[in-house]
Amino acid sequence: MKILSSVNKMKEVANEIRKEGKTISFVPTMGALHAAHLSLVEEATKRADVCVVSIFVNPTQFGPDEDYMKYARDLDGDIKKLDKFGVHLVFVPETEEIYPKDFQTFVEVEKLENHLCGRHRKGHFRGVATIVLKLFNIVKPHIAIFGEKDYQQLKVIQRMVKDLNIDIDIVSCPIVRDESGLALSSRNSYLSSDEKESARSIIRTLHKMKEEFDTGSNLSTMIKGTGGKILKQSNIFDIDYLEICDPETLESKDLAERGDLLAIAVRLGSTRLIDNIRL
Ligand code: PAJ
Repeated sequence: MKILSSVNKMKEVANEIRKEGKTISFVPTMGALHAAHLSLVEEATKRADVCVVSIFVNPTQFGPDEDYMKYARDLDGDIKKLDKFGVHLVFVPETEEIYPKDFQTFVEVEKLENHLCGRHRKGHFRGVATIVLKLFNIVKPHIAIFGEKDYQQLKVIQRMVKDLNIDIDIVSCPIVRDESGLALSSRNSYLSSDEKESARSIIRTLHKMKEEFDTGSNLSTMIKGTGGKILKQSNIFDIDYLEICDPETLESKDLAERGDLLAIAVRLGSTRLIDNIRL
């Protein structure tokens, strides 16, 4: 497994791989890798001749009051994990090379950014779309893999690829959870044991809401009311959103329909957690 940090070197290697007629799959990450990241990596290794994983904690997707500085970092541990998974190349660029002093070009996916996390994290998806496009231009993959936990991110990337005529297949992988149902996240490591206990109620809440829908209720306010009550009982009081929305446009719906997205973001102390299921 090769580790590259130079943008030009990465481009050169990608060009050589392509010249040999080989395909490249790509998993962009911010590191602190856990089993969910590795499930994406496993999928990526199956889908192309050469698998590239990037590790880069992207400053432009964090707001000024967010956890950029304290975001979990474990490069040595990450590299050991990736080596076991048959990854060919790990791209670990320097922030200064990705964002030189006069950097001023950003990608905005206008409408999709206005919902869910986009409303609570101003500029977040602009940062995500920009770094992902930059990484696509550097790594030159045929296929890129994203997790459904960050559902809005997946939709933003799919839209960007379509709107900007980018020749990359975007593949999505299901949410990976621990034995209690809590979606794996690098941010789970910030949780105290009490907060972790509360976090476990997130998926229970979503399932209860789905159950209510399955037994004939389709009024979003009613279903969301049920969800809100369970969260409070579990000591979750800081809810960024609990939404039932169209899975493509992400617009919230008054009347829920099968296939809609049930999405949640809560704060436990200073930790923000997201999750979703489909009705
Ligand atoms: P990061 O949070 O490191 O996640 C990297 C990839 O892992 C994303 O596609 C994310 O959706 C996926 N992932 C994380 N937890 C998951 C889980 N429990 N189940 C399934 N997939 C999961 O997402 C980012 O980094 C960044 O925004 C990035 C795309 C790298 C751009 O900076």
